[in-house]
Amino acid sequence: MNIQIFDSQLELDAYAANLFIDTVRSKPKAVLGLATGSTPIGIYAKMVEKYRNGEVSFAEVTTFNLDEYVGLIPYNDQSYAYYMNKHLFDHIDIPDTQTFLPNGMAEDLEAECVRYDQMLLERQIDVQLLGIGHNGHIGFNEPDHALSGGTHVVRLKEATREANARFFAAMDEVPEYALTMGVGSILKANSIILAVRGADKADIVKQALTGPITTEVPASLLQTHPRVTVLLDREAGRMLG
Ligand code: GLP
Repeated sequence: MNIQIFDSQLELDAYAANLFIDTVRSKPKAVLGLATGSTPIGIYAKMVEKYRNGEVSFAEVTTFNLDEYVGLIPYNDQSYAYYMNKHLFDHIDIPDTQTFLPNGMAEDLEAECVRYDQMLLERQIDVQLLGIGHNGHIGFNEPDHALSGGTHVVRLKEATREANARFFAAMDEVPEYALTMGVGSILKANSIILAVRGADKADIVKQALTGPITTEVPASLLQTHPRVTVLLDREAGRMLG
């Protein structure tokens, strides 16, 4: 694994944004796997800045997001669809028809998972961005004795709901279920960027990168992938070597 530790968040954001932009410049029809959470916000801001400076066009890019809450309409400001529009899609030249998220409002969620997997099967993700949850989840693949390869409905752990409650007005507004791309799809990406910030993630970063490969720490499966770049701030990387 290529592990980079940065002194400032701005440097981390710029480095990650450049990895995406270099990919799109060398392959205008690139397929990008995108993530939500607080960590990618600065990365997307940097991508928008570079787009505005005329350094890159996303007109032919396709994107797939990792996950979406079940039961939030896309106009709900806590949905990941809303987040992506707010932080990235509304500010760049990517057509709406080329941005995909699982539909957490689908009447038949199982059929929605099959539909999303079918789209993923037809394309190869060039670069997949990931964050990590405190319990080692990637996307919304929560720790378990076994993990799903494909897109599936997941019941969120209470700890995950609590961690994400800061974005909602009240805990009981945090959805109990989500749709997430499976670890099989994540690991099929040509390359992966794992971006992590903060002292509260130092322990799980150490477990994920240097501990045993186990479904109880879903991010540890990244150790099996040949092209993972890990971008950490000093705090998140403080327990490494
Ligand atoms: C959510 C998302 C994950 C993300 C995680 C960490 O649970 N589903 O994809 O990695 O949050 O987010 P943050 O960057 O806010 O710590």
